[in-house]
Amino acid sequence: MSAEQPSALLSAQRTDIATAVAQPNIALIKYWGKKDERLFLPRTDSLSMTLDIFPTTTRVRLAPGAGQDMVTFNGEPATGDAERRITAFLQLVRERSGRGERALVDTENTVPTGAGLASSASGFAALAVAAAAAYGLGLDARGLSRLARRGSGSASRSIFDGFAVWHAGHTGGTPEEADLSSYAEPVPAVDLDPALVVAVVSSAPKEVSSREAMRRTMDTSPLYEPWAVSSRADLTDMRAALGRGDLPAVGEIAERNALGMHATMLAARPAVRYLSPASLAVLDSVLQLRREGVPAYATMDAGPNVKVLCPRPDAEGVAEALRAAAPVGSVHIAGPGRGARLVAGECR
Ligand code: PMV
Repeated sequence: MSAEQPSALLSAQRTDIATAVAQPNIALIKYWGKKDERLFLPRTDSLSMTLDIFPTTTRVRLAPGAGQDMVTFNGEPATGDAERRITAFLQLVRERSGRGERALVDTENTVPTGAGLASSASGFAALAVAAAAAYGLGLDARGLSRLARRGSGSASRSIFDGFAVWHAGHTGGTPEEADLSSYAEPVPAVDLDPALVVAVVSSAPKEVSSREAMRRTMDTSPLYEPWAVSSRADLTDMRAALGRGDLPAVGEIAERNALGMHATMLAARPAVRYLSPASLAVLDSVLQLRREGVPAYATMDAGPNVKVLCPRPDAEGVAEALRAAAPVGSVHIAGPGRGARLVAGECR
């Protein structure tokens, strides 16, 4: 969300109905592991780029008299874990607003859900902005990032345009103090014209949720603590690279941080392996691109898809190389995008 437009969000006037749009973000320094699961306090700080593709549009309408929340995803009623997470989130918003009405929530999601493409980030960022407006919470961007965090940690970063850092915060003091300590905020980046080329290797839902995989990694992987320590140094280096507009350094740090995160999972007991043979073929093609002088660097999340950071003028060539490398389902070119925002439009 840009700093120029907080007024629309600060209104403590409840509107009864609000629609918000948010885009996914891809972490260049990863969030992997929670030190407090209930409050969604991460073990480490993370840093991401919000994308300009795959928007999620969410409308929240208060429904006085309704006995329960009603949630749809692309026109279909939400079920199971997704419905439980959204209802729990709305309950938190109700507690904070002092209002009891249930809500109708309609979400149009253009991200392939559950494929490690952070659909939960755009989803909960849009829901946080729309629900906060509908219930009249009167939150600024930092407050919205804290609220979005309670739906899905990575959503805290999609509140902001471009690059954002999410502070891990602390677990000391009261739960309220701990909650306040963890939020995202924008990070300045100088003279960067990056593209993130997304190779969708599979859009099938993942077998192990990121929540379960994080828990297992923290509990059992002997590589987790060393990664968490080195991730702190990676973040310092990343901020410096962004500050001097050094895209190859940004890419190199992002790639080593992501590979390290996957190493922690591979060493978990039992191991969590999200990367498939097609993911490794795409990683090989990224190495080949570098040998040919193209500054392309890879990052991967809780799924088999690979995202490749490169200068925007190289993006078409990189996309071509990734298509040739493996039977990838689709390739998408993204740039830095806008943070979550209220829109006037309706959802369906
Ligand atoms: O989608 P979440 O909030 O459960 O977390 C996913 C974490 C990664 O995408 C793997 C890394 C990150 O920082 O986004």
